[in-house]
Amino acid sequence: MFNLILFGPPGSGKGTQSDKLVAKYGLKHLSTGNLLRQEIADKTPLGLEAKSFIDKGQLVPDEVVIGMVDSFFELHKGARGFLFDGFPRTAAQATALDKLLALKETGIAAVLALEVGEDELVKRLLNRGKTSGRSDDTDEGVIRKRFAVYKSETSAVADHYKAAGKFKSIKGEGTVEDIFSALCTAIDKKMA
Ligand code: AP5
Ligand code: MG
Repeated sequence: MFNLILFGPPGSGKGTQSDKLVAKYGLKHLSTGNLLRQEIADKTPLGLEAKSFIDKGQLVPDEVVIGMVDSFFELHKGARGFLFDGFPRTAAQATALDKLLALKETGIAAVLALEVGEDELVKRLLNRGKTSGRSDDTDEGVIRKRFAVYKSETSAVADHYKAAGKFKSIKGEGTVEDIFSALCTAIDKKMA
């Protein structure tokens, strides 16, 4: 299996680039944000619980997210690899992911981190908020809260994979095509 984490702050382009990467490399896209929004749309108990956190820009509790990822693995046992987008987001999630992958006798090949300045991120998210229908995109206060959470809780994930020698930064500003091509170069090196 070939498993990749696409890492970066809210609005850095994880979803945009994931769509292109899964099409090129045949990986299964696992976006915990998308899975949570689907649960909310389906009005499941998990979705109802998650909504209260997402609307405030806070993280959904680890055990909820890890359980959801575990179920996703069960559903996609034949996958040739996964592209993780927006997961893991805490040190506990990173440790849980390593364990779940070890059970499958595999691991993370690389963590590619999209680097984008905060002003550009706010601009992108407020702009998307005009059309996305995402409750967490319309209020600048909630957007700033998501950045604060990223710094306080999610930066530990970068440290986790830096310690494992798997972390690589990629410039996330510029055209979607140029960023995609930089990601592909990094992935092709890992695959070779
Ligand atoms: P999640 O859905 O993961 O959102 P996020 O990480 O906040 O990031 P976004 O999806 O907003 O941004 P993105 O990096 O995917 O960028 P995109 O490609 O869309 O999480 C949402 C919430 O769910 C969290 O706050 C939390 O509550 C909860 N959650 C999710 N996972 C969780 C977990 N593991 N644990 C706990 N809670 C969890 O691009 C953004 C915009 O920019 C788009 O409009 C796009 O068109 C545009 N854009 C993209 N690339 C470019 C470019 N190169 N130039 C200009 N514009 C661009
Ligand atoms: Mg996204």
